Amino acid sequence: MNIHNKIFNNIFNCESSHSAVAHSRVNLIGEHTDYTGGYVLPCLLPYKTTIIIGKNTSNKTYNAYSDFFKEKISFTNFIKSSSNEWLDYIKGCLFVIHDENRELDNTCLNILIISDIPMGRGISSSSALCVATLKSLNEYYNIGYDEKHIAILAQKVERDYIGVSGGIMDQMVSSIGIHGKAFFLDCLTLKYELINLPNNYCFELLDSEIQRDNRNSAYNKRHDELKKAEEILKVENLGSVKIDQLNKNKFNDLLIYKRALHVVTENQRTKDAKNFLLKQDMKQFGHLMNLSHISYSQDFEASTKDVDLLVKRSIESGALGCRLTGGGFGGFTVSLIEKKHYDKWYNQMLKFCSKDKFFNV
Ligand code: GLA
Repeated sequence: MNIHNKIFNNIFNCESSHSAVAHSRVNLIGEHTDYTGGYVLPCLLPYKTTIIIGKNTSNKTYNAYSDFFKEKISFTNFIKSSSNEWLDYIKGCLFVIHDENRELDNTCLNILIISDIPMGRGISSSSALCVATLKSLNEYYNIGYDEKHIAILAQKVERDYIGVSGGIMDQMVSSIGIHGKAFFLDCLTLKYELINLPNNYCFELLDSEIQRDNRNSAYNKRHDELKKAEEILKVENLGSVKIDQLNKNKFNDLLIYKRALHVVTENQRTKDAKNFLLKQDMKQFGHLMNLSHISYSQDFEASTKDVDLLVKRSIESGALGCRLTGGGFGGFTVSLIEKKHYDKWYNQMLKFCSKDKFFNV
């Protein structure tokens, strides 16, 4: 019996039958482009969420236990709570699975969540939770969903059930991605390419210590501003708009123009970054990361002064590129460093950040 089954057994006093794992991701470039039909380039992180499930034969309630919060909650319906707690992601997954499969038997389940993903740092802890839960339910009920459909359902949970206007990047890479490879995704067609990451370079995350939450941050506001830009441009997806087309239009609202400018230029940078990665030209790749951060900070206004300072220090310490990753307004920065210069970079950055702020990719 493995350690997870033992924990399950201790908590629920019965056997588990299925489990599934989903990893978190870091986005290397391509921010707020996914929900406008653009491009993204994330890769998987070692941090993961495991879901272990089994039938609850003792009574007619569902039970969920979060190892992180050390909290066990029982429930009898899939209605969202008003407080948006961790349980809602589990309930949301059960809701969408039962909604698509009305014939499923309704025996109750015990569900254990074990995760080492740092939360609220922009590395998609919520998507990993949804993907792992859906994968375990898919196994348990023997439904036969493929990984892409799992990703689509996970997005449905976060967007329609939880209420964050997010895109599909996190769920796709968490469900389909492979370690050691970047995941270039066309968010309109959901076609993807897996690209090798170079051996002599590494990516490193640094915690800006600014906790974030898409549900409460300006994430949804940015989403709405981009939808407004699409209305002004009379296009369905900003992702298909080129810079000339953007500049041909008169924007009375300069703010909306700036938001759109970030997305249009970011899409081009992401496609270029993919080509530099294929050629293993990491100097150019890093340069695009830096440009991406400037655009994210100045045009999209999704950074903070502290994050900007961290980015500047990382580049001054020898990183080839550094940018704020994820939904914005805090969380992790991601730096690209040539391995032979890593120690120098690390020791330099230790002057500004304590050891526990560094996270390996
Ligand atoms: C969050 C969302 C993603 C994406 C990023 C920003 O992580 O879940 O869909 O929009 O922000 O690039």
